[in-house]
Amino acid sequence: MSWSTPLAERVINLKPSPTLAVDAKAKALKAQGADIINLSAGEPDFDTPGHIKDAAIVAIKEGFTKYTPVAGIVELRQAIIDKLKRDYSTEYGLDEVVVSTGGKQGLYNCFQAILDPGHEVIIPVPYWVSYPAMVELAGGRPIFLQCEAETNFDIDLDRLSSLVTDKTRALIINSPSNPTGSVYSRQTLEALAKMAVEKGFYIITDDIYDEIRFDGQGPENPVSVFPDAREHVIIANGVSKTYAMTGWRIGYLAGPQPVIKAATKIQSQSTSNPNSIAQKAAHAALSGPQDCVKEMVRAFKERRDFIVERLNKISGIKCNTPQGAFYVFPDVSSFFGRSAGDFEIKGSLELADYLLEKAKVACVPGIAFGDDRFIRFSYATSKEQIEEGLNRLEEALAGLS
Ligand SMILES: Cc1ncc(COP(=O)(O)O)c(C=O)c1O
Repeated sequence: MSWSTPLAERVINLKPSPTLAVDAKAKALKAQGADIINLSAGEPDFDTPGHIKDAAIVAIKEGFTKYTPVAGIVELRQAIIDKLKRDYSTEYGLDEVVVSTGGKQGLYNCFQAILDPGHEVIIPVPYWVSYPAMVELAGGRPIFLQCEAETNFDIDLDRLSSLVTDKTRALIINSPSNPTGSVYSRQTLEALAKMAVEKGFYIITDDIYDEIRFDGQGPENPVSVFPDAREHVIIANGVSKTYAMTGWRIGYLAGPQPVIKAATKIQSQSTSNPNSIAQKAAHAALSGPQDCVKEMVRAFKERRDFIVERLNKISGIKCNTPQGAFYVFPDVSSFFGRSAGDFEIKGSLELADYLLEKAKVACVPGIAFGDDRFIRFSYATSKEQIEEGLNRLEEALAGLS
């Protein structure tokens, strides 16, 4: 009997994360000896600070290597509660926090916990690559809300309001943003919070870059500006970006108790607790000295200033100045329609391919974030690499006619 290797409907159209794919391609080419400048990485280039690693070593030596409570150890949840109180002046209980295997699993569980088939989730564009796929995997429907570089990718409230229906279950926001680096103003956060309460939907706030801000402000959230929205806000965060801990895989959700309970239940039937040793390390990260964060943010800011200035000097590129995260998202659409040899630049995908082939510079096409006019460069790499990457970029772009 022939066997057609059947797969579930839900994975047939599922694409692998494009950002991880570009990064993997760049790393593979580098491993083969190609002289690649990788400006595609979604992770800090810094090492995890020493005191965090030490906490993990102690955990191993002390035999802290068994199952923990599914939602995470109490001391880590308490450190998260303390951070949220510090940053947002909002009190959460232990049963309103669940620790997961990276921020990504927290978000995944969140959508699984709140969406029924047909529920709609409003996603501002440009968006982080995984939101639409996560919504769809939970049976939901992504509804896209276009934002524009001219308004620093702010949310147009009238446009948002027009997209809200009786099927709207949530709006997801990410400030500072991957890919744009934009930060929503307090007025925007407050307006969003008020609309969520008035119209009855959740705001999922992906705060993973909350500490990486260059405007001198600390983390902000709809609950910190409008506490009445507490029951509508689900906070997703983690230690990956702030503490250069991407490989440790610790993230968390905080929000209304029923949502957290549901997410914990899902986790109990899928992955159980996140890694016990990494939980101890995350505890050290959140409750220990924070100078390492300041140091990294200072370095990112210096690189941001450098890359934005250089990019805007390249004819045909328009680049906003991001207020956070470690990405720039310049408009490169003026190069579309141009060509060089066999390369015809139809959109961001072809441009990213051309840059990888010609300039040996890896970046992520804007289409992966829902907007083809742009391209994303990460500056989570050394200034020397950024400078060399930009020199090559300028030369390759000048070769298009
Ligand atoms: C916007 C955004 N949210 C969430 C995540 C997930 O982070 P983690 O590595 O903790 O799963 C990332 C990582 O790239 C991200 O950029």
